[in-house]
Amino acid sequence: MDRRPIGFFDSGLGGLTCIPYVMKALPDERVIYFGDTARTPYGSKAESTIRSFSLEIADFLVENGAKMIVIACNTVSATCLGDLRARHPGVPMLGIIGPAARAVAGRCGPENRIGIIGTKATIRSGAYSHEILGLNGALDISQAACPALVPLIEEGIIQHEIMDLSIKYYLDHFLSYNGIDTLVLGCTHYPLIRGNIQRLYPSLDIVDPSEEILSSIDGVLADMGMRAGKRPTGEADAGRGARGPDHVFYASDLSENFVNMINRILGPADFNAAFRSIRL
Ligand code: DGL
Repeated sequence: MDRRPIGFFDSGLGGLTCIPYVMKALPDERVIYFGDTARTPYGSKAESTIRSFSLEIADFLVENGAKMIVIACNTVSATCLGDLRARHPGVPMLGIIGPAARAVAGRCGPENRIGIIGTKATIRSGAYSHEILGLNGALDISQAACPALVPLIEEGIIQHEIMDLSIKYYLDHFLSYNGIDTLVLGCTHYPLIRGNIQRLYPSLDIVDPSEEILSSIDGVLADMGMRAGKRPTGEADAGRGARGPDHVFYASDLSENFVNMINRILGPADFNAAFRSIRL
C-alpha cells in the first residue's frame, strides 16, 4: 500500500482532463497536479524550452512525494519523455501518447482514415504517427497542428462562436480532404472542446488520450505494488481539517479561471482538495 500521491502535470489546465477518470476508477488514489499556467502554451515554444520547463516540474513533483508521474501533456510527452525518465529513473514516468497509440491501433484497421490534431510541437515531432505505425504499419494517418485552440481554452472561451469558427478553420478542410473518420485529440486541452467538435462533425469517432491513459496508470500502480489501498478506518470520517488534503492542485499562476476550470472539469464532487500557487 502506497499512500503517496500520483503526480500529473501539463502546461496549463489541459492535464486536468485526465483527473476525473482517475478519481472515478481509483478513488483511493491521491493527486498532486501542476499546471504551468504562467508559461502556457508550450506547444509553440522551442524544444529546449519545453524540456527545461518540464524537468523543473518533474523535480518539483518528485520533491513533493509523487510516487509516479503522469505527463498529462502531449507536447511534453512528444518532446522530452526520455529526458524526464533519465532525470528520475526511480520514479515511473508515463507519457500520454503511448497508451493513446495502443488504443488507436486496437480499434482501427486499414479501412479507417485517422486524423491526429495537436500543438505545433506535437505534430512536428511525428510522435503519434511513429507510435501508431510501429504497432500497425498498414494504418492511414494524417495530422494537423491547431495552435490557436489552447489559448482560447485557457481563457475559457468554449461555448462561443469564436471557438466553433476556430475549430472549423483548422478542421473543415483537413477532415474532408483526408476523409478522416477517426480523430485523436492529441492535446489534453482538446477534450474540453470535444462537445464542440462532435456537434460540428457528428459522424467522427473521437479518441481521447486523457481517458485512454487510465488503464496504463492502473497497470503501472499494480505492477509496481504502488496502489494506495483503502484508507485506514476512520480517516474518511476524520473531517476535512483533521488531515492534509487528498488532492493538491498547483499552478504557476493561480488565476480565477484555473480554479473555475478545475471545478468545471471535476464537477461539484465532494473531494478534499487544496489549490496553491507556486513559481518554480
Ligand atoms: N495540453 C498540452 C498538450 O497536451 C499542451 C498545450 C500547450 O501548452 O500548447 O499538448
